Amino acid sequence: MLASYITYFITIIVILFSLLLIYLKWALTYWRRKRVPYLNPTIPFGNFSNPLTNKTSIGFYYKRFYEELKLRGKEFGGVYSFTAPIFVPIHPDIVKLILLQEFSNFHDRGFYYNEKDQPVSASLLTVAGDRWRKLRTKLTPTFTSAKIKTMFHLMITCAKMLEQQINECARSKTPMNVGDSVRRMTTDVIGSCAFGIETNSYKVGTLYRTLENIAVKMTNHFKQTFCIALPNLARFLRIPQMPSEELNLILELLNETIEFRTEKKVIKNDFLQLLLDMKKDGVIDVNEVQAQCVLFFLAGYETTASTLTFALYELAYNENVQKQLKKEVVAVIAKHDGVLTYEAVQEMKYLQMVIDETLRKYPPIATLKRKCTKDFTIPNTNIVIEKNTAIFIPMLGFHYDPEYFSNPDKFIPERFSEENLPNTYLPFGLGPRNCIGDRFGKLQVKIGIISFIRNYKFKLNHQVQLPLPYFSGFADRPNILLDIELIAE
Ligand code: HEM
Repeated sequence: MLASYITYFITIIVILFSLLLIYLKWALTYWRRKRVPYLNPTIPFGNFSNPLTNKTSIGFYYKRFYEELKLRGKEFGGVYSFTAPIFVPIHPDIVKLILLQEFSNFHDRGFYYNEKDQPVSASLLTVAGDRWRKLRTKLTPTFTSAKIKTMFHLMITCAKMLEQQINECARSKTPMNVGDSVRRMTTDVIGSCAFGIETNSYKVGTLYRTLENIAVKMTNHFKQTFCIALPNLARFLRIPQMPSEELNLILELLNETIEFRTEKKVIKNDFLQLLLDMKKDGVIDVNEVQAQCVLFFLAGYETTASTLTFALYELAYNENVQKQLKKEVVAVIAKHDGVLTYEAVQEMKYLQMVIDETLRKYPPIATLKRKCTKDFTIPNTNIVIEKNTAIFIPMLGFHYDPEYFSNPDKFIPERFSEENLPNTYLPFGLGPRNCIGDRFGKLQVKIGIISFIRNYKFKLNHQVQLPLPYFSGFADRPNILLDIELIAE
């Protein structure tokens, strides 16, 4: 009797397993059926490796896809994440169609968010359609050059704390861990501009540690892959976008500041104030104020810190570039009577080129994501990108393609001496959904670099492993140590 139960049970398992296998094999023929060139997938992870054991960053996978498709002379191709088909355009004209010309078919990013359990996760970064358009229209005025200029003094105050630390390292001849130091500065900037508080992360690490924990937990590879591949199941399982404990801490902090400002009628020149003014005028509600402050952190914390870290690494590695930049910085500041003003920063053209080149080699967001919202036929073909198909634009592939950037592994700021940036250069995205905070981010990076370069000279500490383990995105930050020397007061 028991033996027949076991046989029955095993038969059921074998049948279910065979059916699953047949389904998986069929699902992985999607691109072949659509006559789209594709890269061979395997079961069960598609064109990716096991996310639990392989930590390769998404940007690198797509760089590889780009190179394989280009080698085969294709303009686009298909890959799979598990069984979900992903369209990968590798021709600049198709990228332009998706991001710009046919934006109405591709306005969604398809990012995971869970509004029911975490209302602040429905932000400009994640929502789509009309809701996104309205929010973007409301928020655009808070990111103009004029508004950012009013926050310049806050950034300078935060940079002074960074300078103190640079000075201490130079005097005590202690190597500086740049990644850690600049993330403390970006924490202070977020604290003062978005949360309206002075954090001084070099001495008090509370906000810094909270933001760090969120950043690290959010880059959990498996959770990310799972939530992007199966967002509805993730919502059903009530998986939050951000770790709840840390999020509650920063919301508490924010609410205290909002209450304080409202009660005491305190007015400040910061991003939070712009949002509170909009709330007063009935343009947004308190939940939206919270969501945008959190968004400021989500979109601006790691992106800015990573750009600053890699710029300093390249400056330390390329002594000549460092010397030339120092010459410019010192000359421009002298022209402005020794004061680092907003206008002085805007005059530093070589500094801008150094940042452009850093963002080419190390774009902090190395793939752009879109979701097709309406069937779309690729011009001059009969290939249809179907509604709901995910699209990943392999930014790193373009940025390292010698056809567009000669000697792509070399750090050559001069390649950006032309005013017009090539259309294969995408560090801030392209089209209506491009980065809204680009000016703010760049200004912060510029001030950070100036803090290092104005009075100091720096080189890589002997412990830095060279060549630098290839940049691999948010979670895997390389440890960059700098030896700093004071050369002028
Ligand atoms: C060097 C620093 C930064 C880099 C490299 C960067 C890069 C990007 C990229 C690649 C995107 C996606 C664009 C697309 O899909 O076409 C993006 C979107 C966005 N970024 Fe940035 N970013 C930076 C700093 C910031 C800062 C400081 C903020 C805010 C304070 C910010 C706010 C946003 C927002 C809100 C979006 C979504 C815009 C939308 O969907 O309408 N970013 N950023």
